[in-house]
Amino acid sequence: MDRVDLESHRVVLDSPLALDVDDITRYCQDPLFERFLTVPWPYHRSDAEHFVNDHVPTGWTTGDELTWAIRAERGGALLGVIGLRVPTSDVGFWMGAEHRGRGHMSEALRLVADWTFSTDFAGIREIGWECLVGNAASASVARHCGFRFTGEAPSRVAYRDGSHPASWQGALRDTDDRSPQPGWPA
Ligand SMILES: CC(C)(COP(=O)(O)OP(=O)(O)OC[C@H]1O[C@@H](n2cnc3c(N)ncnc32)[C@H](O)[C@@H]1OP(=O)(O)O)[C@@H](O)C(=O)NCCC(=O)NCCS
Repeated sequence: MDRVDLESHRVVLDSPLALDVDDITRYCQDPLFERFLTVPWPYHRSDAEHFVNDHVPTGWTTGDELTWAIRAERGGALLGVIGLRVPTSDVGFWMGAEHRGRGHMSEALRLVADWTFSTDFAGIREIGWECLVGNAASASVARHCGFRFTGEAPSRVAYRDGSHPASWQGALRDTDDRSPQPGWPA
């Protein structure tokens, strides 16, 4: 599938580029990434090169995983990454530590959800989200975007060691009104 850029007045979502490799490598040294994400750990520059040069383009070509760089403006630095895994219709995201807490991730997730529901591609009508239990920042992003909390369960996505640790899970339907829903644990 052809890559799709998304844009609002607050963020631009486009492709991670070779120019972004140093920033990605630096952001991915964050101990929170070891705890909450499934990215390689320890994370090396070669991991970022593989991500940008192979993983992301392959995901778009096959249509299985659509990954965007999050920027504050066109041509600006990469602040974070958001992706939609198409076969499972679920989202994953991270933001570089110094760029957190400014609402960029919530805005990026809204854009991805809007686009996913507005395109005929894959016919997705519900987007899933999950995080390891205790990841209040991730849960806040999902809650802000109108996801319903659907409970705690073993993670659907395997963790780095192959285990399926307890996770908070949520979902957003195309018909949901996008206002924050009650019932979230954090
Ligand atoms: C989760 C993450 C992407 C959120 O990024 P962000 O830039 O802070 O997101 P936003 O600015 O859109 O913030 C959304 C809300 O989360 C809140 N939030 C941010 N950090 C928080 C924390 N540590 N605890 C509780 N809430 C938090 C923000 O205050 C904001 O709520 P508010 O508008 O009511 O103040 C970021 O913390 C991150 O990259 N964490 C490490 C990787 C990770 O856990 N990814 C998700 C895996 S499921």
